[in-house]
Amino acid sequence: MSKTAGKPIRCHAAVLWSANTPYAIEEVEVAVPKKGEVRVKMASTGLCHSDLHFQEGIDKQWPFPSVIGHEGAGIIESVGEGVTSVKPGDTVVLVFESYCGECEFCKSPKTNQCKKQPRNQLQMDGTSRITCKGQALSQMSSISTFSEYTVTSEANVTKVNQKANPNTLCLAGCCIPTGYGAVMNAGKVPKGATTAVWGLGGVGMCVLMGLRDSQAGKIIAIDTNPKKFPLAKEFGATDFLNPKEVDDVPKKLAEMTNGGVDYCFVSVGIVPVMEQAFNSSHPNWGKTVIIGLSDLGETMRAGVWELLFGRQLVGTFYGSYKAKLGIPDLVDKVVAGQIQLEKLITHRLPLTKINEGFNMLKTGESLRAIIDYDIKG
Ligand SMILES: NC(=O)c1ccc[n+]([C@@H]2O[C@H](COP(=O)([O-])OP(=O)(O)OC[C@H]3O[C@@H](n4cnc5c(N)ncnc54)[C@H](O)[C@@H]3O)[C@@H](O)[C@H]2O)c1
Ligand SMILES: [Zn+2]
Ligand SMILES: [Zn+2]
Repeated sequence: MSKTAGKPIRCHAAVLWSANTPYAIEEVEVAVPKKGEVRVKMASTGLCHSDLHFQEGIDKQWPFPSVIGHEGAGIIESVGEGVTSVKPGDTVVLVFESYCGECEFCKSPKTNQCKKQPRNQLQMDGTSRITCKGQALSQMSSISTFSEYTVTSEANVTKVNQKANPNTLCLAGCCIPTGYGAVMNAGKVPKGATTAVWGLGGVGMCVLMGLRDSQAGKIIAIDTNPKKFPLAKEFGATDFLNPKEVDDVPKKLAEMTNGGVDYCFVSVGIVPVMEQAFNSSHPNWGKTVIIGLSDLGETMRAGVWELLFGRQLVGTFYGSYKAKLGIPDLVDKVVAGQIQLEKLITHRLPLTKINEGFNMLKTGESLRAIIDYDIKG
């Protein structure tokens, strides 16, 4: 048993006191895990654009103050009563959708959502395990990876290949399953298909890796920031398009393909871009997979006649993986070198530099900046 087990832990976390404010590094208290819960010493967390969307207020109902962060990996510090799938010392990836294995949804192949995942950013019993100055802080997706220690349900962590490096493994918690799974599970791209990816951030690069492994024919990488193209090429992109340089993107893509793209992936959270992708897909069979987020409640336009004639439109959450079950295999691919996680990481920062990290994501200076909790900052 670790020296810290059984007692609350005081440590640092990046706290959002409200939307549209910077993170404040605060001393917080992380409670002892209750029945069915685990406490994790975080090793790394990625700065994903979803965190930025929530910081910028895409969800008007978000319960602030909050410890967000949903892409993380760490080591189990202690476990509550009844926990069987992990033990202290195990390297785990945190998963932002639980897998209880028992509910109607977990037992069904039709969805990767779990009925037990709390939708109010708390633990399954409706309370938080992180407090600051005596106040309870909400926990994004129950996992709160922007904290040196966190508590979550056993259903929100997955034990992975113990050879993986926990200090970079955070990316296996979101961008890898999201991007790779968008191709494998939601797109189901056959060999030789023409494909296009809008948005070459951490998620889009993992879409490219999935397309490469699916042996797609043409892989068109699309971004308004051409600095992203060289890495996209390394991950298998065959053609490049800067939408700022063409008047009519769907027309240009129809010319570059046989009248329209077979499979379109949108890994950017801008609704008109989602509509542009739909209109670039092949009119008779093209499939568009939406990955990027929008403000809650926002809608996109997709022509009814376009759908009647054969265009398809789907969305994917977490790459349509049941994450607790799917991520260990992806981590094996990381360890084997098939998924080149390290190439995605452009910056490693201490938690104290989290605001600088998000500024670099906004300006496009970083691809994936990560917080490495072992760096003393
Ligand atoms: N569905 C899910 O489960 C899920 C999971 C993770 C992330 N996401 C979402 O996926 C999106 C991408 O996340 P990320 O972390 O890779 O973001 P990112 O900011 O790293 O990448 C977005 C990229 O889009 C590019 N871009 C901006 N405007 C564009 C335009 N008009 N046309 C083409 N490209 C444009 C940017 O230059 C950038 O390279 C976000 O919306 C994020 O919230 C969804
Ligand atoms: Zn994410
Ligand atoms: Zn379940």
